[in-house]
Amino acid sequence: MSLSPLLDVRDLKVHLRLGPNVVKAIDGVDFRIMPGECVGIVGESGSGKSTMARAITRLMPNVNIAELSGELSFEGQDILAMPDGALRALRRGRGFSMIFQDPLGYLNPTQRVGRQIEEALSCDSSRGSNRNRVHTLLDEVGLPDPANVARRYPHELSGGMRQRVMIAIALASDPQLLFADEPTTALDATVQLQVLQTLYRLHKERNMAMAIITHDLGVVAELCDRVYVMRAGKVIESAETVRLFEHPQQDYSRRLIELSTRRLPRELQA
Ligand SMILES: Nc1ncnc2c1ncn2[C@@H]1O[C@H](COP(=O)(O)OP(=O)(O)OP(=O)(O)O)[C@@H](O)[C@H]1O
Ligand SMILES: [Mg+2]
Repeated sequence: MSLSPLLDVRDLKVHLRLGPNVVKAIDGVDFRIMPGECVGIVGESGSGKSTMARAITRLMPNVNIAELSGELSFEGQDILAMPDGALRALRRGRGFSMIFQDPLGYLNPTQRVGRQIEEALSCDSSRGSNRNRVHTLLDEVGLPDPANVARRYPHELSGGMRQRVMIAIALASDPQLLFADEPTTALDATVQLQVLQTLYRLHKERNMAMAIITHDLGVVAELCDRVYVMRAGKVIESAETVRLFEHPQQDYSRRLIELSTRRLPRELQA
């Protein structure tokens, strides 16, 4: 049986204006995610990983776009051509979500976190009261005493707790695809591991496709089915994870693997 891709990106170009210059942040990328798949996106700093994730999820505030083109299809729907209203509906109803490296920059400092999660809930009235759904989500992302956490403001939580709140917000719409852009870089090593384990568990339990952007090839080795290697706005190699690690086709990929020697413990595996 051949499944069709959940996300199918062809010849994506994102050129950004930076003062008088134009940066070809993404310059003709093909990218695909199958339903329920976990894909890694790696590459040196500035290679375009975040720009690609933001273009695909259409979350590009504060950027000056010189060119945005290509084919971006999610479940067969053309996301690039989609009006804002339809795009919001797709985000709220089983579409895609994104989590960022820096939860403080994303959470509203003046609103209790429970309320922020509630606002992201999918409009599915059959799922019980909103408060219960918020508490269930907080519990799912591994936060103890959800009722207490829901009443707090972002600054009253630790970095790891805030990152979990952000994951809860991203999951509130029950997405089929989650983009995680260096979701744990700001956390200390133990908490990183716990948050990654949580993400991986949710990916498996919900059969939710996931794209993880990371500098840590160890994370990719343990979690991802396939990997895209990016360099200077292009995908220079893509392969199944095992194949990439055993037979990288590009020196650049081999160097990335060598540079990232840290490995995660085996318990992260399925
Ligand atoms: N708002 C912006 N305006 C103009 N150029 C930008 C903007 N954001 C990113 N760029 C440029 O786009 C290119 C890709 O940047 P991007 O942030 O996507 O890289 P990255 O792979 O995510 O890097 P990192 O690993 O450091 O997060 C870089 O050349 C960067 O300078
Ligand atoms: Mg980035």
